[in-house]
Parts: sequence; structure tokens; C-alpha cells
Amino acid sequence: MSGMENEDNSHLPFETSQFYSERKNTMSIIIRLENENDYQEVENLTREAFWDLYHPGCSEHLIVHNIRKGSSFIPELDFVALLDDKIVGNIIYSKSTVVDKDNHEHVVITFGPLSVLPSFQKQGIGSALIAHTKKIAQTMGYKAIIIFGNPTYYHRFGFENAESFEISTAEGVNFEAFMALELHKGGLQGITGRFYADPVFDVNQEELESFEKKFPYKEKHVTDTQFK
Ligand SMILES: CC(C)(COP(=O)(O)OP(=O)(O)OC[C@H]1O[C@@H](n2cnc3c(N)ncnc32)[C@H](O)[C@@H]1OP(=O)(O)O)[C@@H](O)C(=O)NCCC(=O)NCCS
Repeated sequence: MSGMENEDNSHLPFETSQFYSERKNTMSIIIRLENENDYQEVENLTREAFWDLYHPGCSEHLIVHNIRKGSSFIPELDFVALLDDKIVGNIIYSKSTVVDKDNHEHVVITFGPLSVLPSFQKQGIGSALIAHTKKIAQTMGYKAIIIFGNPTYYHRFGFENAESFEISTAEGVNFEAFMALELHKGGLQGITGRFYADPVFDVNQEELESFEKKFPYKEKHVTDTQFK
């Protein structure tokens, strides 16, 4: 057990508290930084986690691939969760901005894609990845995390509708799925305006089609979980 209690070692692998799997066996996960040797496995797991979830197929594995190559990537917050040496989860962060009415840019951070392999979901792995990286982001001095996601899931971590902080989307709108979390009390004080995620989240369909060819074929389906 190391890392959690010592901020200077927070980049090192650590073992989370043990929890029970659906198989009722006691398991413990290791969370460590992602490295280049993990890239393919992480992209595969991202594809598995998001496949057919919001659209037929998915683009999140390409987003992960491109975030790592861009200037907004925060390698110190790019973590994988391992269970018996198998990567079962990943969280990746990028820098984003809130632009105020005077056109001043304020840096905040955004995580996502956040992925856990389907057969390992609902066992605390996603929560462990968020909790671990939140602490490191705090020690790095970032002010806030701003994300789009399912409020039912993210409220438990303290995320609130970004409207409470007078921050809107780039289009100037607010909704429950657009959320912010201060990393320090008052972290978003004086930071209001429109939020801009890194353009890497705007996927180019041709690039996706060509990227998809590097993965084993998977059939796309229309499902109930998809945006209508
Ligand atoms: C979302 C995700 C990362 C959560 O990780 P996880 O390890 O499965 O979640 P945890 O075990 O930490 O938390 C489980 C809880 O979250 C809930 N939960 C999980 N995914 C959820 C989702 N998409 N929406 C709402 N609630 C969700 C579970 O119902 C469970 O709730 P409970 O504690 O009340 O029973 C994972 O399910 C996943 O990879 N999903 C597919 C990709 C995705 O949707 N990523 C996030 C995009 S916003």
C-alpha cells in the first residue's frame, strides 16, 4: 500500500482498498500511470466500454488516441486500473478553458473518456480512478474539473450543474449533464463564462473510419442507450 497517503509519491502505483466482486471473491486493483506499452490495450478497452452505448459503434477510442498526441494532454493524470495484470479501466484528462466576458482564458481540466471494461463495471473501479486522480489534480494546483456526463453517476463525487458557477457550454447553454467540481474551496471563484473543451473531442468521421480498421471487426447496433 503506497501513494494515497504520501502526496510526493502520488504518481506511483498503489493498491486501493479491497472490495468484493460479483464472484464474491476479494479483489484489489492496482492504479498506476498509463505508459506507451498500454496504449493499444487501453484503446481496445475504451472501444469495448463505449461500443454501441451512445451511438452505433463509438469514437471514444480515437479520442483517447488523439488526446495523448495533443498539447492539452495531462500525462500526470492518465491512469490505468489493473486487476491481475489486466488493464480493466482508464481515465484520461485534458486541459480545457473557461473564457470570461473580457475574453480572459481560465484553465480547468476535463476527464474523459473514462472507461471500465463491461465485465468489470459496477465494482468500484471507475470511482477509484476518479478519487485517485482528483487528489493528484488537487496537488497539481488545478482549480476545477468540468465534464459532460451522467449526473446520477457524477453527483456522488460532488459534481454540480455548472450553472451554479455561472459557467455555460461554448454554445451558452446549461443542462444537468454539464457539470463542474471545484478542486479547492472557491476554486471557481471569479471564473465565469463559456467552457471550451479541447477540439480533439470533435471527431472527424473519415479519421474514425480509418482508425477503426486497426481494430478487430465489431458489428454496430442500435440500442436503447443511444442518443435519439
Ligand atoms: C461509467 C463507468 C466508467 C463507471 O465505472 P464503474 O466502475 O462501472 O462504476 P463504479 O463501480 O465506480 O460505480 C458504480 C455505480 O455507478 C453507477 N453507474 C455506472 N455507470 C453509470 C452511468 N453511465 N450512468 C449512471 N450511473 C452509472 C452504477 O449503477 C453504480 O451505482 P450504485 O453504486 O448506486 O449501484 C463505467 O460503467 C463505464 O466504463 N461505462 C461505459 C463508458 C461510460 O459511460 N463512461 C463514462 C462516460 S460519462
